[in-house]
Amino acid sequence: MACGFRRSIARQLSRVLDLPPENLIKSISAVPISKKQEVADFQLSVDSLLKSSDDHSRPNIQDQAIRLAEKLKCDTVVSEISTGEGTVNFKINRELLTKTVLQQVIEDGSKYGLKSELFSGLPQKKIVIEFSSPNVAKKFHVGHLRSTIIGNFIANLKEALGHQVTRMNYLGDWGMQFGLLGTGFQLFGYEEKLQCNPLQHLFEIYVQINKEAAEDESITKSAQKFFQRLEVGDLQALALWQRFRDLSIEEYIRIYKRLGVHFDEYSGESFYREKSQEVLKLLDSKGLLQKTIKGTAVVDLSGNGDPSSVCTVMRSDGTSLYATRDLAAAIDRMDKYNFDTMIYVTDKGQRKHFQQVFQMLQIMGYDWAQRCQHIPFGVIRGMKTRRGDVTFLEDVLNEIQLRMLQNMSSVKTTKELENPKETAEKVGLAALIIQDFKGSLSSDYQFSWDRVLQSRGDTGVFLQYTHARLHSLEETFGCGYLDDFNTPYLQEPQCISVIQHLLSHLAAVAHKTLHIRDSPPEVAGARLHLFRAVRSVLANGMKLLGITPVCKM
Ligand code: ARG
Repeated sequence: MACGFRRSIARQLSRVLDLPPENLIKSISAVPISKKQEVADFQLSVDSLLKSSDDHSRPNIQDQAIRLAEKLKCDTVVSEISTGEGTVNFKINRELLTKTVLQQVIEDGSKYGLKSELFSGLPQKKIVIEFSSPNVAKKFHVGHLRSTIIGNFIANLKEALGHQVTRMNYLGDWGMQFGLLGTGFQLFGYEEKLQCNPLQHLFEIYVQINKEAAEDESITKSAQKFFQRLEVGDLQALALWQRFRDLSIEEYIRIYKRLGVHFDEYSGESFYREKSQEVLKLLDSKGLLQKTIKGTAVVDLSGNGDPSSVCTVMRSDGTSLYATRDLAAAIDRMDKYNFDTMIYVTDKGQRKHFQQVFQMLQIMGYDWAQRCQHIPFGVIRGMKTRRGDVTFLEDVLNEIQLRMLQNMSSVKTTKELENPKETAEKVGLAALIIQDFKGSLSSDYQFSWDRVLQSRGDTGVFLQYTHARLHSLEETFGCGYLDDFNTPYLQEPQCISVIQHLLSHLAAVAHKTLHIRDSPPEVAGARLHLFRAVRSVLANGMKLLGITPVCKM
């Protein structure tokens, strides 16, 4: 849309300046919208037109802008021409602006904004994005929650831009914890509990066996023995492990669904038990593996400028570590997906880990290490649920639902909802997601339920509220109004600014002043059209963020 207007301005300029329009289009930019004052829509920077402008002093540029402006004429597209500091400013005909934007929004639907010329030339890339990645039988903590929210958004965004995205969950499903779990399950596990609430039950066993192991060394011994059985591939031990894993994933899928998140692949550290042995051999054959006196093996990473930098890749008993498995996993994913980019989303505590993994891949000769990217984020402090610190994702969801339901109970329309719990959850989740994206990604923040669930300001609750209100307009007044659509009726400043911004606060202001109920049908129809377009854009943006827009609340 903006491209069309710019092209039309460039054509007129081209006649006056006798330059090809393509050369001019780059110098025309959209003017950032201001809430306080009315500004022009586009501006031409005279400075950028005169490339060898060194010999031109500022006042000279100003003169040139004025002289150029005098030569230009308003036309069907441009309704006003003025000058600013070294710029010529253009205001677009309001009726045309309204018509073009609204038509485009309605026509493009969920693709509005994405069909832009800016994106159409983008090559389609293969992107693997690994996020969430909790550890079986351990806490699903807020770091995992944040990884889920951020990773899902990045995946949505890449997908919307037309890339081929693989969403991957890399479970912590291997290691000593399974030795402890195996022993623990034999001592105080219940088949029934495992079936109906695996995450809870496995966690309980894990906590209890850790306690006992601290007091009784024989427990630790038998846990080690169990893990060794797993490592050597003992079928019986593996069968139990497999059940723990399968049941956990089944439950994860159910809970992620409440969050509106899905994965294409559930991978895990366990997949790389054997492959990491191959990685160790490979490192050795390349002369990169150094044995230490303790019997462990490390890779020298002093090439990065830090002389003491090493990464341990093998324990003294020959088994692999977290980093070794990540090497094996990266190589395996390259084989399988031949990705252009691989993104890992975890808290910033793992920054060094990923730096080292990427560096090792590089010195092993894998140039594609440069396609790997770690996206670190800050820590959320103080998130508590009724059951205390966050241990299960499900507790967070239940807490959100309960709190939001309480807040909504004072609102009249909530009582008419078909499924108030479900709505409350969607609204609450929107609140959580918006809160999470508010600050800068890498800074830590203190969590507060009251702040998150506020209904005023730039909050998720307000977004959902705006969406629901706009939706109910369409429902109340029906689509009959939407058949014809008279842009001349959309000339109030609130109309123009909501089109310029397409934001929810402005939509709320416009909603207050631009009535539908008491207006003649042609005005009502035009306004309804406007609000439908606003809602559509709002919904698209919310969905990208991972929010499910609600229609009533
Ligand atoms: N399971 C890990 C944890 O909870 C996160 C995994 C991150 N991904 C990776 N490829 N290492 O800390």
